[in-house]
This record gives sequence, C-alpha cells and structure tokens, in this order.
Amino acid sequence: MVALKEGYDLIEEIHGLKRQRNAVILAHNYQVPEIQDVADYVGDSLGLSYRAKEADADVIAFCGVHFMAETAKIVNPAKTVILPDLDAGCSLSESCPAPALGAFLQERADRNYYVIAYINCSAGVKALADVICTSGNAVKIVESAPKDRNLLFVPDQNLGAWVMQQTGRKMDLWKGTCYVHVEFTSNSVNRIRAQYPDAPVVAHPECTAAVRMLADEVCSTEKMVNYCRTTPADTFIIVTESGMLHRLQKEVPGKRFIAGPTDRCSCADCRFMKTNTLEKLRNALQRLQPEIILDEEVRRRAERPILRMLEVSR
Ligand code: 13P
Ligand code: SF4
Repeated sequence: MVALKEGYDLIEEIHGLKRQRNAVILAHNYQVPEIQDVADYVGDSLGLSYRAKEADADVIAFCGVHFMAETAKIVNPAKTVILPDLDAGCSLSESCPAPALGAFLQERADRNYYVIAYINCSAGVKALADVICTSGNAVKIVESAPKDRNLLFVPDQNLGAWVMQQTGRKMDLWKGTCYVHVEFTSNSVNRIRAQYPDAPVVAHPECTAAVRMLADEVCSTEKMVNYCRTTPADTFIIVTESGMLHRLQKEVPGKRFIAGPTDRCSCADCRFMKTNTLEKLRNALQRLQPEIILDEEVRRRAERPILRMLEVSR
C-alpha cells in the first residue's frame, strides 16, 4: 500500500514539475512501463525525432538513451534537453567512435563513400554522415541514396545486411551490433515457436540473419504496433527488447504478446534503456540536469543529415 502511494505521489510530482517547467516528456518503446505511462508521447526513434523537432515546450525530458536525447538537442537546439540518467548509452553507438570512423574514411578516401548512419550513433558520427536513417525508414533512405556512389552503412551490420536484402543495394558495413538483439538465436526462437505454433514471429532488424529468417515480419518497434493490430492472429511472439510488450498490450488490447526468449533468459532487457526510473525523471525535472550540451559546430554538421532523413521519410 505504501509503495503504491509513493508511486502515485511521484507521478503527481512529475506532472506538477512538467507544468512548472513547461516540459514535454518523450519516451522510447523500451522504457519501463511506468515511464511510458507518464510520457506525452511514446514511440520509436523516427517518431521521437519528429516529436523532438516539433516540440514547442521549453524543456524536452527525453526518456530513452543518450543518442536519442542528443538527436533531440541537434534538431531543436533552443530547448533544454534533459535525460534522466547520462549513463543510458548504447552498444551500437559505442561500437563506432567518431575518430575511428573519421580515420576509416580518410584511409579509404578513394572509395568516396556516401555514409548512411543508423541513428544509434553519437553526434560526432552523425556529423560525418551524409544521411541518417532509423529502422523505420532505412529501406527508403537507402533506396534514395545516389546510385553512382559507394555506400557505407554504420554502425549496425545486422540492420545493414537486412536493408541490403530488401533493396538489392550493395553496401560496406561497419561491424557493430546491438548487444541485446544478438542474444536471440534460431534455437531460442524455434523453442518458443514450438510452444505457440500459430503465433506470428515479429522481429527487429537488429536481430541476426538466422533469427530474421524465422520471422513472419521484420520491422521497427513502431511498425510492430500496426502489424499486430491488423494481422488476424490473437497471439504474437515479439523478438525485441521487453519494454515493447507494454506498449503492445496497451495499444492492441485483447491480443496476447509473448516475449521472445534468449538462450539464457525468458526475455531480453536493454540495461541502458532500463537505467531510467521515475525517480531519476523527477530529479531531472527538478534540477534540469543532466542536460545535453553540444559543441555548436558538431551540432550544426550533425543536423544536416538528420534533416535530410526527415525530408526523405515524410
Ligand atoms: P526503433 O527505432 O525501432 O525503436 O529501434 C531503436 C533501438 O534502439 C532498437 O534497439
Ligand atoms: Fe542500443 Fe540495443 Fe539498447 Fe537499442 S536495445 S538502445 S540498439 S543497446
């Protein structure tokens, strides 16, 4: 009872601080349920980028990981952007440091690469890219890339390989992976499928090729909502981070969602996404800290490929 009352007070406090600060709360589909429930908007990286750009509140409280909050600051620099926990990183972003990409491009200057960067990367990497993509628009972005240029896709080799299959375009791939999505295996997916033989398998494109091959649908987290709503089945196996199940249960009531298991666990959690809590969100709104601060030159260079993406994927 006490815990419930404390949770309720915290939610009231967050709503009060939000009004006081004139803040908007944006949350990714992988956030814990209580953060999703207090947010003004919950979505995938693409939807969140549009929302961040259009936000007219003074403060954007971004409940997601660092590169997402950084993207919000890049496209809406006049706003104060706060992230409940600065340690909310991303293994994909870590796999591709900007100096390493810069050196790679310099050493291969003869390739004259057109660089397509998955949004899961730092502002420094975005500043080196020609265009950004998310899992929701990667196919469209790659299809619109110049036909006379060599393509380099960074940093997710699994998403890159999937996009190559979908578009028929050859790309050189950076060797990064999402440490969460590579935990799903053909063995773990086959095991759960044997338990629910009639349930379509829905997988994120960050999964390995062996897992994607077993899926009935491969798509971004936002597209999963529509797929499950419109597909005539009552049970679905969701092969992505566990936070997605809350969003699906809320938006597609009456259907059943089974978490895709790994070989070690019954579901997969992203430790970076799960570092944000209601308490940290309340503290961030109170102190307007931790705040995302960017070097203006890097921000300006990183903004161009994001705006190109937003334009192409409208
Ligand atoms: P989405 O853009 O599909 O939500 O994916 C973001 C992400 O970090 C997946 O791991
Ligand atoms: Fe990064 Fe993977 Fe976590 Fe998404 S799930 S934020 S790609 S580590």
